[in-house]
Amino acid sequence: MSIENIKKVKLGYYPTPIEKLNKITEIIGKGDLYIKRDDMTGPAFGGNKTRKLEYLLQEALDTGCTAVLTVGGTQTNHGRTTMGAAIKLGLKPILVLEGKDNGYLSGNLTLDALMGTDIYFVENPDDMQKTIQMVCDKYAAQGDKVYCIPEGGSNTLGAIGYIMSIKEIMDQTAEMGIKLDHLVCTVGSMGTYAGMLLGVKYFNAPFDVIAVPVSPGEKGEKFISFANKVSEEHGLGITVTADDVKIVYGPEDKPYAGEAYNKPDPTTREYIMMMARNEGIFLDPTYTGKTFRGFVNLVKEGKYIKENETAMFIHTGGAMALWTKEHLDDMQQQLRGNCTTTSL
Ligand SMILES: Cc1ncc(COP(=O)(O)O)c(C=O)c1O
Repeated sequence: MSIENIKKVKLGYYPTPIEKLNKITEIIGKGDLYIKRDDMTGPAFGGNKTRKLEYLLQEALDTGCTAVLTVGGTQTNHGRTTMGAAIKLGLKPILVLEGKDNGYLSGNLTLDALMGTDIYFVENPDDMQKTIQMVCDKYAAQGDKVYCIPEGGSNTLGAIGYIMSIKEIMDQTAEMGIKLDHLVCTVGSMGTYAGMLLGVKYFNAPFDVIAVPVSPGEKGEKFISFANKVSEEHGLGITVTADDVKIVYGPEDKPYAGEAYNKPDPTTREYIMMMARNEGIFLDPTYTGKTFRGFVNLVKEGKYIKENETAMFIHTGGAMALWTKEHLDDMQQQLRGNCTTTSL
């Protein structure tokens, strides 16, 4: 079966909007810059996981599952979207989170709790697999059939969502009269980037995809093997090679990924503020803020994105992480410096 015909359950709103970044283009003074609002996919505030979940949760329904379990860090956006989608489909929402319950539910955890999710915290990463099995057994003993989704929904089925997003972008840009040269997206658990790389080849898109990693030290090899596994499994008849992979890291002493995954970072926040101040769009501190920093610098440098080219930043969601306690605490001073507050 061709991937265009693989069954999926409708969860999101498509096509997600494409907007011109007027002020950002003016400030940088180069390129013709756009944003694709995959932060607006819905449900439960959406984000990039919705495209993957449409395929995964169709399988959950087809196999008679009654509950959905997924995994991630304590502030997983993927987890929050998955729980929202599960509830919408009448499936029990279960999260197994790697990290400590610090006694205070903020950011995505607030939303997970509002949705009535069963949340399990696992402090020791080495215990994750064992705990997932234990939790599954517990629900099975109660008569549930649990559908387990891996971190980020990044398996060969979920990746189809981002392969197909390329067709959506091609149709939409053609309709809008945009001659696109480059897409810039985030690389985390890799389903988004690998899917887009495959989509560009599969649909013969006239643009390429450049990725910015969210964790320092991320290398490209695993994307190649994952992308080729997806291609093989779905009979796409294409091969991804090292030449297709373009991952940009930024300066060695101050990489785009910051010091660590999800570590509050004032430099990333400057770019979150740049987008908010000029376009009224909110990025997140863990993924898209880092990617937008990479995007702006790619345009400024002119190496991958040339002066007169058109580039599109993919906003993959996650702004709720701005309201996590550690990010809020860390940014108070910087926020005060970004606005005026007057008590009368
Ligand atoms: C907001 C946001 N953007 C990007 C990503 C990265 O996507 P992927 O895991 O498919 O690489 C994630 C992953 O959780 C995310 O939450």
